[in-house]
Amino acid sequence: MARKKLPNTVNKLAECNDGHLRIDIRRLMQHARIPPLYWNAELPESGALSRYADKLQNNLKAGIGLLMLGPNGVGKTFAACALAKKALEYTARVLYIPAPDLVQAYIHEWPFDDDVTMATAFRTRHLLLIDDIGQEYRGSGSGYSEQQMVNLIRYRITYRRATVLTTNMNTDQLKETYGPGFASLLQQGMVNIMMTGADRRKEGRQKLLEDSGVKQ
Ligand SMILES: Nc1ncnc2c1ncn2[C@@H]1O[C@H](COP(=O)(O)OP(=O)(O)OP(=O)(O)O)[C@@H](O)[C@H]1O
Ligand SMILES: [Mg+2]
Repeated sequence: MARKKLPNTVNKLAECNDGHLRIDIRRLMQHARIPPLYWNAELPESGALSRYADKLQNNLKAGIGLLMLGPNGVGKTFAACALAKKALEYTARVLYIPAPDLVQAYIHEWPFDDDVTMATAFRTRHLLLIDDIGQEYRGSGSGYSEQQMVNLIRYRITYRRATVLTTNMNTDQLKETYGPGFASLLQQGMVNIMMTGADRRKEGRQKLLEDSGVKQ
């Protein structure tokens, strides 16, 4: 169902709060469709991601995006959502979408809010996070999903709109899936961050077992 339109800037949103200038970050995160699991995500204090985040306002203006590569559970989505939260300090036009939903949104012409379609929002948001590229349905063999993805990224790079991509694929697999043109496009408009380390989901496992009551 289409949702109510939010004001386009954080300042306007602040004015809406009946004189309270506190920005309702939770409302902004909901509007940006950041999944609740990642609402508490924080950026690291050092490293490449932290340096990119330090220049986030400039990177948004220049449309310099980020490709986050790495295996399951290393914290790619967490980091992407932490970036999205920081971006919400500068603009309300932020959108998170898992790659499988992106393809469905094109096929079924999903609405974004009262008068904007998701397809338009994908092109126009100041920051778009496409989570898990390579996981979208590509089984039809028509190349539709891959073409939609490449066309969108091409548009966003051309119009200097920053995009954050996360993926479990390596650069060779990306090239094989989306074509050499895609790899070349990414060179033009994005920087790569390789995330490594242990599967962090295992860390939360013990707490989950205890919280659930299954384990004492
Ligand atoms: N820096 C961090 N501090 C605390 N928890 C973290 C951090 N990074 C990730 N996590 C937690 O670890 C889990 C896995 O992180 P995340 O979902 O970001 O992994 P991922 O790399 O996106 O994995 P996948 O490729 O399977 O999507 C999540 O529950 C997340 O909240
Ligand atoms: Mg993820």
